[in-house]
Amino acid sequence: MADLRIVGRAVVDGRLIDEVTVEIDGERISSVNVGEVGSGPRLLLGKGQLLLPSATDLHVHLRDWNQAYKEDVFTGTSAAAAGGVTTVAEMPNTSPPIRSPEALRERLSLLAARAIVDYSVHVGALEKVKDAKRALELGACGMKLYPEDLERLEDYLKVSRESGMRLVVHAELEGDDEAKAVKMLLSRIRADDDIRFAHISRAESLRMIELAKEGLGARIKVEATPHHLLLSEEELDENSRRISAVRPPLASMADKQYIFSGLERCSVDFIASDHAPHTLEEKVSERRAPGFPGLEIMYPLMLTEWLEGRLKISTLLKKLCKAPAEYLGIPKGDIRKGFYADLVVFDTSVRWSISARDFLSKAKYTPFEGRKLSAKVVSVFRRGELVYNGCLLVKGGGMHVRELKHG
Ligand code: NCD
Ligand code: ZN
Ligand code: ZN
Repeated sequence: MADLRIVGRAVVDGRLIDEVTVEIDGERISSVNVGEVGSGPRLLLGKGQLLLPSATDLHVHLRDWNQAYKEDVFTGTSAAAAGGVTTVAEMPNTSPPIRSPEALRERLSLLAARAIVDYSVHVGALEKVKDAKRALELGACGMKLYPEDLERLEDYLKVSRESGMRLVVHAELEGDDEAKAVKMLLSRIRADDDIRFAHISRAESLRMIELAKEGLGARIKVEATPHHLLLSEEELDENSRRISAVRPPLASMADKQYIFSGLERCSVDFIASDHAPHTLEEKVSERRAPGFPGLEIMYPLMLTEWLEGRLKISTLLKKLCKAPAEYLGIPKGDIRKGFYADLVVFDTSVRWSISARDFLSKAKYTPFEGRKLSAKVVSVFRRGELVYNGCLLVKGGGMHVRELKHG
C-alpha cells in the first residue's frame, strides 16, 4: 500500500489524462496508472483541479547575506514553493559574490539550513581551472558571466573548456545591446562549448542563435523569462512602468511574439523566472534597480497561456519542468515511476488577478499586477512531502540537487 494516492486529472508525459492514479511512496512516485487503482490514503482531486509536475527554475536571485533586506533564502524559496517551483538554481551576483570555491561552500551551507525547496548554485566568473574544478566537485551547476566579464571571454572559455564547467551568459554590451553581445559570443564559441544564454529578449538575438544552433549543434541552450514572453514596453500601464526596469529591458511586441514562438520552434529551451527582488524604494528611486520577483507567478502565468489556447501543454511542461531538471541531471520534471514526487495541484476553474501584496517574497510588486489568470496553485509536494497548501507548511528541508539520486 502506497503512502498516498493522488487521483484525478493529470498531465503525464505531456499528455492530458482525465483520471490517473499517482502513487507516492516516501519521496518518490511508485506508480502511475490510468483510472483509479490501489487502496489506502487517497487525495481525490476536485472538479477543475489538475495534477502537474512541479517546476525547476534555472535562474533565481535569492539575495540574503548583505542583501537580506531585499530577500533571503527562506523568503525566496517560500515564494518558489508557493509558485509550484520545487527546485531552483541560484545566480552568483550576491553580496559578496559567489566567485570562489570557499564562497560557494558557504552559500551551500546557508541553503542547506534555510531553503524550502531543492537547490543548485552557479558560480561567478572564475579565473583558475583549479577553482572551477573544485567548484564542480562541490556541485556548481555552471559558471555565470555578466556583461562586465565579457571583456575577458577568451579566458573564461578556456577555464570552461579545461574544467568541463558549463557557461551561462548574460549577453548585453554597451547600452543594453543584446544582439551585439550575442553576435560577438557566437563568433567566439566552438561546437563543443556548452553555453546557455540567459533571459533572451530580442528577436534579432534569437534569430542568430537559431542559425547557430543548426550549425553548431545542441550545446547552445536558451532561457526566456515570463516577462519577456508576455510583456512588452508598448503595452505597460503607468503603474507597471514605474517598476518595470529589468535587464535586458522589456522589448517590443514583435520581439515578445518572436521569443514566444521560439517555445514551439524549440529554439527556447527553458522558461526561467529571473526572480530578482529589490525594495520598492530601490525600484522607484532615481537608480531604477533592474529586476523584480517572479517565482510565485511564473507557472500560473504560463499555464494560463495553455488554458487560453496559445501554447501546447507538452511544450510548456518541457520548458518549465522537464528540460531544466534534465539540465541539472535530476529525476524530476515529469509524473513518472521512480521520479521524485515533486508535484503541483492547480485549480484551473478559477479566474483570479495577480496581487503582489500576497507574495511570500519580500518584494511585493510586479509588472503583472492585476493580470487575470486561469490557474491557481492549490498544493505543492516536494519529494513526497506536502510543503504548500494555500500556506507554507514547512520551515526548511530543501536539499542540494547533488544529493538527489536516480531511482
Ligand atoms: C538581476 C539582479 O537584480 O540580480 N537583474 C535583472 O534585471 N535581471 C541581474 C541579472 O540577471 O542580470
Ligand atoms: Zn542577467
Ligand atoms: Zn538574473
